[in-house]
Amino acid sequence: MKHLISPSLLSADFANLKEDIDMVNRSNADWFHIDIMDGVFVPNISFGFPVLTAISRYAKKPLDVHLMIVEPDRYLQQFKDCGAHTITVHYEACTHLHRTIQAIKDVGCKAGVALNPHTPVAFLSEVIGDLDLVLIMSVNPGFGGQKFIENTYEKIRQLIAMASAKNESLLIEVDGGINLGNASDLLKAGADVLVAGNAIFAAKNPEAVIDELKNIAVSNIRI
Ligand code: DX5
Ligand code: ZN
Repeated sequence: MKHLISPSLLSADFANLKEDIDMVNRSNADWFHIDIMDGVFVPNISFGFPVLTAISRYAKKPLDVHLMIVEPDRYLQQFKDCGAHTITVHYEACTHLHRTIQAIKDVGCKAGVALNPHTPVAFLSEVIGDLDLVLIMSVNPGFGGQKFIENTYEKIRQLIAMASAKNESLLIEVDGGINLGNASDLLKAGADVLVAGNAIFAAKNPEAVIDELKNIAVSNIRI
């Protein structure tokens, strides 16, 4: 399977959201990346259920929902009802992570866990077999347009080593500061899904950037 591109609507034009949704529908992107921020887990508030419901009315590709919120268990069914395909929760926000992962599956979604830049990959060793996706944050979560953290490559390598022993179908997603300058190295390191916000929506021709990201040729893709 070729790598996947998940444009982050956080950087879209909210006054013309449908135009940006249509652009992603037309493009070679694979998913819509949906960043939900609660102002508690991260120092920013993005948008909630009414906006997500509106997005899902027009989006023709799976909704990749990244929850940067505390107590995500309270809202899993609602995110599913709003059209979520994959729900990714933060390791740092889940006291009972194993239970939360099962609850995501119980509502009928693919289950992902995100790791902040300071959180070791090894902390997932006991649940990695239960996961569909791990999201490695390559910036501190909360804002689009931040600088990529270089240690991300090392974390991808560690995650691949862990996944090859325990979960061969695991998808590795990377999120934050991704652009045409580092995407190829991330894919070479083993990323399966690239999230990009600013690099796509701040570009003159967002569809062309998606195309370029999607068409990067990498010989050692694992999946
Ligand atoms: C950051 C979000 C990201 C963000 C990425 O907290 O999780 O998805 O939108 O945006 P860029 O690609 O601009 O770093
Ligand atoms: Zn995100």
